[in-house]
This record gives sequence, C-alpha cells and structure tokens, in this order.
Amino acid sequence: MSTQHTAKQIFRPNKDLSRNAAIKNMCEYHDLQEWAEEDYEGFWGTHAKEKLNWNQPFTKVLDESKFPFVRWFEGGKLNVSTQCIDRHLIIRKNKAAIIFEGDRGDQQIITYLQLSYNVNKFANLLKNRFNVKKGDRVVIYMPMIPESAYAMLACARIGAIHSVVFGGFSSKALRERIMDADAKIVITADGAFRKGKPYMLKPVVDEALAGTTPVDKVLVIQRNNEDIEWVEGRDYSYNEVIEQESSICEPEIMDAEDPLFLLYTSGSTGKPKGVQHNQAGYILWAQMTMEWVFDVKENDTYWCTADIGWITGHTYIVYGPLAIGATTVMFEGVPTYPDAGRAWKMIEEYKINQFYTAPTAIRVLHKVGEDEPKKYDLSSLKILGTVGEPIDPSAWMWYYETVGNSKCSIVDTYWQTETGGHIISPLPGATPIKPGCATFALPGIMAEILDDAGERVPAEEKGFMCVTRPWPAMVRGIWRDEERFIKAYFSDVKKDGKPVYFTGDGAMYDDDGYITITGRTDDVINVSGHRLGTAEIEAAIQKYDNVAEVAVVGKPDKIKGEGVFAYIVLKSDSGVADELEEFKTINDIIKQEIGNIAICENIVFVPGLPKTRSGKIMRRILRSLAKGEAIVQDISTLEDPSVVATISELIGQ
Ligand code: WT7
Repeated sequence: MSTQHTAKQIFRPNKDLSRNAAIKNMCEYHDLQEWAEEDYEGFWGTHAKEKLNWNQPFTKVLDESKFPFVRWFEGGKLNVSTQCIDRHLIIRKNKAAIIFEGDRGDQQIITYLQLSYNVNKFANLLKNRFNVKKGDRVVIYMPMIPESAYAMLACARIGAIHSVVFGGFSSKALRERIMDADAKIVITADGAFRKGKPYMLKPVVDEALAGTTPVDKVLVIQRNNEDIEWVEGRDYSYNEVIEQESSICEPEIMDAEDPLFLLYTSGSTGKPKGVQHNQAGYILWAQMTMEWVFDVKENDTYWCTADIGWITGHTYIVYGPLAIGATTVMFEGVPTYPDAGRAWKMIEEYKINQFYTAPTAIRVLHKVGEDEPKKYDLSSLKILGTVGEPIDPSAWMWYYETVGNSKCSIVDTYWQTETGGHIISPLPGATPIKPGCATFALPGIMAEILDDAGERVPAEEKGFMCVTRPWPAMVRGIWRDEERFIKAYFSDVKKDGKPVYFTGDGAMYDDDGYITITGRTDDVINVSGHRLGTAEIEAAIQKYDNVAEVAVVGKPDKIKGEGVFAYIVLKSDSGVADELEEFKTINDIIKQEIGNIAICENIVFVPGLPKTRSGKIMRRILRSLAKGEAIVQDISTLEDPSVVATISELIGQ
C-alpha cells in the first residue's frame, strides 16, 4: 500500500451512492446552507415540524434573549422514547431495532416491538418499584448490552435524566459523578465479557456507594452470572423483577427544553463537567445527522463501535439510529478478539452498510492485519465513518482503499459531547473528500474558524474552531454550574464583539475552504479517542504522598493519537530509590482515581518544572520536550532556565 498521498488528493462520491442519497450533490448542500443563513428559524422550524412527532406544537423556534442560555422550540411537547420506538410500530414493528453480538459470539435480535416491550417494562420498573420521577437523575454504569439501551430509553420515557458513566471508570470517578448529579438510583450489571473472560462492574458500584450517597436503590442486570454481593434492601436483580411489570407505560409528555441526559466529560480545568442535553433539539439533530451523514436506508444495517458511555454511543448507537427506525448493531467485545478479523467477519455476516469507528481502532486494525479485510466479503459497505480525533492521511487511505475497496464514502465526522451530534462532516453522496479533512459544516451549522480578534482566518492559517450561532443540539448547560458553562464555552472567542461557542479545537481551511481539525488548543488530551483533562490526571497523581509537583501533557502516539506523559517532582525527603516502583504506584493511583484509560506511559522524575517568575508552569515547553523537539522559545525569563536542559537530558536517558 502506498502512503505517498498528500492532503490535496480528492475523491468524488460514488455515483450509485449519490443517486439515492439524502443530499445528492454540492448544489443541494449549498441550497440548504443558504436557506439556513437567510432564514435560520425557518430552516430549523421546518425541520423540527417535519422530523419529530409533537404532542403539542412549538410556538417559538429560538429564544436567544438569555444567551448563551438559549431555548429551542418553546411551547412544544414530546417524548423522546416515542420518537425512537412508538412511531415505528405501525410500519416496522417486526424489523430489527438492535442486533446484539456478545464478546463470545452470542447473538440477540431485538425487533422494534420487542424493544417497545422491554423499554416499557423497564420504565414501569423504575417508576413503580423505585419511585423514579420526572427530573430525577439515574446513573447508568453498564457494559455494552441491550439492557443499557433499554435503561436509557426507559429514563427518557418517564422523564428521568440519565447520566451514563463509562464502564471503564474507577469507583472514585463513578462516585464523583453520582454525587455531582445527585442521583437517586444506579443501574448496573454484575459484569460482562471481554476477550473471552468475565469482568466485573457491580463491585465497583459497591465501592462507589460506600459511605453516604443520595442513592437508595441499585438495579443489577445479570449478564455474566458471576458471584456478587447483595446489599439487602438496596440491590435488586433486574432478571428477577422485570417480568412482573406491565409492557405498557404511558410516556411522560415533556417540554422541548426539559433535560434529557447528563454526560460527564473532561475540561481543561477542574473536575469533569456534567454536560446537559435537552429533549427536542438533541433528538432532532441526532435524527437529521443520521439521515444526512450516514444516509441509512430502510433495509440497511448500521454499526457504530463506540461505547454507550460516550456521546458517540448515545447519539449514534441509541438515539439517532432508533429515531430514524434503523437497525443498529451493538457489540460487547473488541474488534481484535478472538483475532484480527473479528470486525470484518461481523461486517460480512451482518452485511453491514455503514461502519463507524475511531482512528485509533483503524490504526490498530491496520497494524494487526493490513490485508485482513481482503479475506472477507465487505461488499455491503457503503459508508465508513471516523470520529474522536484527527485521522492521519495514511490511516484514512487504508480505510478508504483496503476496507472500503475505493468505493465507499469516508465520513470524517467532527463533533463533541457538547455539540450533541456531528457539526462538520462530509455528506456521503455529495462532498468530494480529501484524506484527513472533516470538510465542511453541516447545513444549519454556522461553523467558522476565527482568530484572536474574531476574524475568519485566511487559508492555511490555524485558528479557533467556533460555531457562531446556537444550534438545536448545543449543550444547554453544565449541571448546576452556570458560571462554568459561560466560562468553558463562551468566553474565549468573540465575533463582532459578541461571544461565540468555542470548541477548544484548532482548525485550518485549505485553499478550497476544506476544514482540517488540528487538535485541542487547551489542556485536554485525546488518548485513543478518550477525552481526558490533564488537570484531572494531575489531581490524581497529587494524591500520592511522595509527589511534590506534577505536570501532565499529551505526547503524540502513532496508534493512540496521544499518550499521557507526566513530569513529576518528588518530595525531597521521600527517600525514593526505585523509579520503577514509583511508576507502578503512581499508575495504580491513577487507576483508582480515574480508571485504566488515564494511565501514564511516560513518567519522568525531574528536579523542578519550568515556571515563569510568577509561578506559572510552561506547558508548551513541556509538550515540546515530551516530543523530543528542540526548545526554540525564549527561556531566559523562567524562574530557573537550567531545568529545561536537565529535563531534556533526563528524557534522553
Ligand atoms: C473532541 C471531543 C465526538 C464524539 C467522540 C469524542 C476530538 C472528535 C474529531 C474529528 C478531529 C476530533 C476533538 C473534540 N474530535 N472528532 N473527526 N477530527 N478531532 O467526543 O469526548 O467530547 O471529544 O474529540 O478534539 O474536541 P468528546
């Protein structure tokens, strides 16, 4: 395979795909974008009326009077679970809603009618047995099994606010989220399977709930049937109680702007933020982007490999696909187990039409089996998606040529937990694509790359990736922290004197106006597509007594995108002899405080950190040092310039 491709190469969409696509060519795209520019409320109001089933129509499309606290579709009432289930029961009740494949190859196919039964029963269980009411918070700490989707939709049905916590987070991280959300119940599983072996979740929940918490009930789905401890009066077995519930649960009719869910994500400072999404705007955009970007047809089978613990799992495994009545594949395992062909075998067996994964996974699959895809019949594939981090042109080319047989559209979808759904992405039947480019803003999204002064940057110059008008699926708030919401998203960049939404990412236009995302400009790092705040990792390391000071940066990594790199100053009296021991201890602490996803590959023990005279740590220098770059910045103003040379030497060793 050749890797000599430059970002200038351009691939036009496959004609067969264009002919039937939701958006067929760039003219249609520009027409839609122009409509939105000329009549923003008309554009969104029309789509909202057409796409959603309202119990009561909205009276106002957008209220910006309290910007950035905006309100969409005021007066409108609906239920999100109804959009995902009930409205499909007339024409597709026996169609597969979810195809589940377990780690060990076990399979379940859940039709829309069965989904309806399961979600209604689950909703009744929450309402009747656990007394969960509209507005209550429910934490979901679950593996990738269908019950996770039922749990989310059951919350939506009764108007409870779910907060899914990724199953890889530690008990401390889970506890922190439970406390911040002030959750009433936790839904979990005994455990699940990974690489052929059982692993456990329930003990993590038990640990998280030790001491006082607002949680009084724990619902446990029995997946791996390993022995677990039960707390009398608190813990319930889903498998034992679910059949007692009725399969009819009237949906709670919600206001368009009632909260739908919280999802905690890392920021550049402090603790994880409870990103809040509300009902109508979120589900509308989940549905529209499913139609436009994945162009799913009635008989298609769509597979997104994300975990429901992240926003991708929310929008593009559960809410988006079900809102359009698609068949969504849910996979418990990892794409390289039992062998490098697992993902390709699944695509062949289920005749997957749209496959959506992360650059890290693409690079891993490439590495473990460059020619593996050729052993399978992947001819059902039409669209290949990527998300989570910038994709390097060589990974892109392998995906395009070897996986997609040079006939699939690649949709490099750029978005965030806060954007609810894609904001920048190719349209598979319309956009000529270039390796490594997220291309253009989707219709209705007023994205612009701005400089410090709020001016649009010229081609080939880096700027801040912003969105200059609120869109329906925009984050509505950080849970119970209005000030932080404004500070985190609306205080860095202004256009015409007015604050605009800043993503935290850098980006660039090329001469054709194509957008390339260059990565975070803040102290957020992206490890295997997982978003981590360096401040959180530093706080975890600080828990260790021997540590005097610590600074964490991301170091570019061929497979993971970035790896965690920590500079640590140990206390002078800590009497450290064995660096390997310290390395292990520190990573054990990180595992306890956050989880495996945040462990440090590199730790250097340094005598001091490069700081300005006012005491600010110069992270830019530390990032350059981690990369092994020569330091070109002026370091003469540092409190102690000699630490730079010392650190550089230590890294060299
Ligand atoms: C951050 C958001 C969006 C779902 C998964 C991650 C990076 C995401 C791309 C892309 C370049 C990307 C950004 C963004 N990112 N997609 N296609 N190209 N970078 O959601 O955990 O909220 O992380 O992921 O840096 O800010 P998240």
